[in-house]
Amino acid sequence: MGAKNTEKTSQVARRIADLVQQIHHHDFRYYVLDDPEISDAEYDRLFRELQELEAGYPELRLSDSPTQRVGGKALDQFRKATHRVPMLSLANALSEKEFREFDERAHRVLELPDAEPIEYHAELKFDGLSVSLTYEDGQFVRAATRGDGETGEDVTQNVRTIRSVPLRLSTGSPPRAIEIRGEAILPIRDFERLNEEQARKGQKLFANPRNAAAGSLRQLDPGVTASRPLTVFAYGLGHVEGLDVPTMSGYQDLLARWGFRVSDWRKVSRGADEVIAFYREIEQRREKLPFEIDGVVVKLNRFQEIDRAGYISRSPRGMVAFKYPPRQETTTVEDIIVQVGRTGALTPVAIVAPVYLGGATVRRATLHNQDEIDRKDIRIGDKVVIQRAGDVIPEVVKVIESARTGKERKFHLPGHCPVCGSKVERRSGEAVVRCVSRDCVAQLKERIRHLVMIDALNIEGMGERIVEQLVDAGLVRRYADVFKLTQEQVLELEGFAERSSAKLIEAIERAREPELYRVIFGLGIRHVGERTAKVLANHYGELEPLFSAAQEELEGIHEIGPEVARSIRDYFEDAQHRQDVKNLLKQLTVKPPRRGTAGKGVFAGKTLVLTGTLPTLGRSEATRMIEDQGGKVSSSVSKKTDFVLAGAEAGSKLDKARELGIRVIDEGEFLQLLK
Ligand code: IVH
Repeated sequence: MGAKNTEKTSQVARRIADLVQQIHHHDFRYYVLDDPEISDAEYDRLFRELQELEAGYPELRLSDSPTQRVGGKALDQFRKATHRVPMLSLANALSEKEFREFDERAHRVLELPDAEPIEYHAELKFDGLSVSLTYEDGQFVRAATRGDGETGEDVTQNVRTIRSVPLRLSTGSPPRAIEIRGEAILPIRDFERLNEEQARKGQKLFANPRNAAAGSLRQLDPGVTASRPLTVFAYGLGHVEGLDVPTMSGYQDLLARWGFRVSDWRKVSRGADEVIAFYREIEQRREKLPFEIDGVVVKLNRFQEIDRAGYISRSPRGMVAFKYPPRQETTTVEDIIVQVGRTGALTPVAIVAPVYLGGATVRRATLHNQDEIDRKDIRIGDKVVIQRAGDVIPEVVKVIESARTGKERKFHLPGHCPVCGSKVERRSGEAVVRCVSRDCVAQLKERIRHLVMIDALNIEGMGERIVEQLVDAGLVRRYADVFKLTQEQVLELEGFAERSSAKLIEAIERAREPELYRVIFGLGIRHVGERTAKVLANHYGELEPLFSAAQEELEGIHEIGPEVARSIRDYFEDAQHRQDVKNLLKQLTVKPPRRGTAGKGVFAGKTLVLTGTLPTLGRSEATRMIEDQGGKVSSSVSKKTDFVLAGAEAGSKLDKARELGIRVIDEGEFLQLLK
């Protein structure tokens, strides 16, 4: 061993430390802030370099290396993990009245006069499963489920695969030891995707995102957990040594600084009225949140006061779960119809007696596929429990068998497409039955609807009914036909007059210069959602290379798995599809993806955060305007934020902006700047 070797080794060690640091930082930007700073390709390069160095110098691998997130060996069973401070539960308040009673009790316990408002910390009640994360000297060492509150299961290996959980606390002076409590959840979209996949594989569907999160975390094979996009929101504190924060709000700010995902929707509220206003505001937004919540949690903001309030039957008296009404209801299945989707999938849908559920009247519930109908034994005439989760289409949870009269009728999917009469097919390994006709009108309508929808080419005003008319009239058969429509043709359709037809044509004209990812998304390729479309757009910069991209090439792109790659391949292998896309492109001037924040525009190089409801601009509209002007939109306020664009009912982001002295502008000022 010469001096040279030692020198080389220490050089490698430094590079490894540097790469680990960088990747942690980029994981944080991506998985916690949802605001990446580098491209996926650059990230991959860093990751691969680290993997290679670690392979050559295994002894230099750091214990918190991001390469260790991939999951280790499968276990036979979980080890037990005892919490140093038990994980308790919360008492509920099921109405405003009950919440006021809680507030009154809090006044009594704290011996405060009624007129003095109490300082609370109000935050989201995430609907997942709670976990306790132990850090020693800033390093992640253990994760455990709640279990019976005293002892849970050791899920360290699994939690290590969750990218929003930091492997080390990003702070110079971490506490000696700390148990951080939080909620592992699966966002609604990911839950839907997971269920689609389960359905395709003919496996059992998860009833809701919480069950899916629990099923994903409590996996003996960490490889399975790693494949599920779980995330953890941090909010609570168990055992701690060497940390002194007086308030819950301060503590959660600290968690965010340490690199945890902490919701922006939290508020220090003075008095019950402010808490109730927050509760109502969140209720309004609940449908729009990308994950499930079932209430807000209200806590005395000062830890000292929580301690003083004490405990009653395993719940702290200084906290309460202020819950929203459940989103399950019972109703009757009046009929079962079959819908034909964009990709030809036949979906059985229950027509149910109308019920009010989670803010809307429900008349239909998806039954997913025949296997699900059989498994749940759902029959026409059955009394059933239905539920909705977020924006998701309501679904039937279970049949109330005790209500059966014997008159219920079983249902079977037809052997032919109910719209075009062609034969249907069920590929082996799939639970879905599809209409295989190329000319099925139902599929065509869905494809066109998808192409013109807001997240795709965004042709304003071209809704479901109009697409239906255009297809039925034979005016639109192929993607490109949409852009060949004339005002005269539109005028002939029922319900159109001079003005409305001109408006539609104008909307079509405005849609002729889409960004590349919107076109890719708009094609409606199976498994290619908006996110994947962006990944593809950024990777290729244009559409044509996709025509001939091989399976392995696609799989090589960060974030694209084998199934998605196969689906893209299948789509473009079809000559008709290629022709359709080429013809569509002839009608469009596609904008290539914007790279970086360099360039021109009033917001060049600037980061903006949107919060609240703007008087006239929609969120996506404002985002586009900012990006068009070279700016970036981030989801959370930090020192790096340049402007906060705030509308009505702006929440904690606005508070934070004020705290950090960041310039806050309203829509008027924003539009002024754009001028
Ligand atoms: S604090 C004493 N904060 O709700 C327990 N819990 O019903 C302190 N939960 O087991 C918990 N979001 O799993 C707290 N922001 C939040 C929460 C939250 C969800 C869950 C947690 C707990 C359950 C209690």
